[in-house]
Amino acid sequence: MMLVLITVSLVALLDLSDAQCFLTKSVTRTSPYGTKETYCEYKKFQFAAGCTFQLASPECIKCNCTSTMMNCCMYGQSASNVHAEGCNVINDFCGIVLVDPKDPKKLCTPSESITIL
Ligand SMILES: *[C@@H]1O[C@H](CO)[C@@H](O)[C@H](O)[C@H]1NC(C)=O
Repeated sequence: MMLVLITVSLVALLDLSDAQCFLTKSVTRTSPYGTKETYCEYKKFQFAAGCTFQLASPECIKCNCTSTMMNCCMYGQSASNVHAEGCNVINDFCGIVLVDPKDPKKLCTPSESITIL
């Protein structure tokens, strides 16, 4: 596990990517008439080869499906990866917000640094 210590504004933090990626093979099937179709599968959905897609929360993933493989990366930031001194970090769609530990309705400014685990 890499510990990176960064002092950033909240806006900049929301743009930071997890860069958590994976590859899967695409699949080719043949119809009874001999027509071939190549697709990539993600969570039971079949995406046509050649497409790029991005799924909103809670998936928060973007993928490229080619004729040979699918490359997917998570985007946004997850609260479980972030520690902000003096604030609680909570998930907010594909991003995070920092809230006051005593009042989760109030936004919070970290006293020092934000740590991304
Ligand atoms: C998908 O392809 C585009 C263009 O080649 C690239 O900019 C992007 O980073 C790729 N995305 C993923 C998740 O691999």
